[in-house]
Amino acid sequence: MSGRPVVVVTRRLPEPVQQALTQAFDARLNPDDRPLTTDALRAALQQADALLTTVTDKVTADVLAVEPRRAGLVANFGVGFNNIDIEAAKARGVAVSNTPDVLTDATADLAITLLLMVARRTGEGERHLRGGQWAGWRPTHMLGTHVTGKTLGLVGMGRIARAVAQRAHHGFGMKIIFHDPYPPSADVAASLGAEPRATLEEVLREADFVSLHCPATPETRHLMNRERFGLMRPDAFLVNTARGDVVDEAALVEALQAARIAGAGLDVYEKEPQVTQALVSMDNVVLLPHLGSATHETRVAMGMRAVENLQRFFAGQPLRDRVV
Ligand code: 8YV
Repeated sequence: MSGRPVVVVTRRLPEPVQQALTQAFDARLNPDDRPLTTDALRAALQQADALLTTVTDKVTADVLAVEPRRAGLVANFGVGFNNIDIEAAKARGVAVSNTPDVLTDATADLAITLLLMVARRTGEGERHLRGGQWAGWRPTHMLGTHVTGKTLGLVGMGRIARAVAQRAHHGFGMKIIFHDPYPPSADVAASLGAEPRATLEEVLREADFVSLHCPATPETRHLMNRERFGLMRPDAFLVNTARGDVVDEAALVEALQAARIAGAGLDVYEKEPQVTQALVSMDNVVLLPHLGSATHETRVAMGMRAVENLQRFFAGQPLRDRVV
């Protein structure tokens, strides 16, 4: 490779990250922050030595099939990488990296935010007040659900779920139950006050709050389907900060409409940025626009982690966060 490596950066990133990229590489930034079209992604793979992508870039098998391809690395900004066809990347010898660890706390904080918001009806309360409808305090006004001491069921027990358990158990005295095919050690689980359950179904039957923390894979697509919503308690709430694909959104709407569950707090959706209209009209649903990692500190740390992966790649060193 002659000269500095060319890196196409698909979205506008926090300024310190853009500076680091510009210093280290011939970085092609996106100051207008317009999402790249499929054709632009293909062109980027042909023109750049690496791409820095985000959740809004669908790096499909078809996109990766472009010939001749110059890029050897797709450095994804985010811990999730379901926007990239990993099998196709592997087959074509394109390396993929992600940015784990640095967004764990921010995402766990947001899961707790959603849990509290949906239980205590805070979005609804704010809409009520801002809408000029508040007639004054009264003992029976807008009663919500108690959180402290309740049972939180975690689906998946990786980094983010553990950080949620830490907050919920040590902060809110919640009982934690979880299901994960690759569970943490008994010591780690005990330190979080967390008890394993052999099946997802047991977690769903027992929990007052169910929070999703599994990756989006073909196996977890629509994990929360009609049948599984039917197992949840009618007074239980669903929280999703993982990926929209894990929930069959139509089945969720049906469960909410039939009052088979009490409510939901969502940060991610099946067809982002489209949100099923029925959800928007429900007061017992809290809807956030994919804000899990959206703090200044975290987005800078994610960007720097992607820069580190790019630097290692061009230095011929092992990637810090190799996916494939
Ligand atoms: C990102 C996320 O905002 O890391 C993830 O998997 O969902 C978020 O933190 C998003 O993926 C950016 O690409």
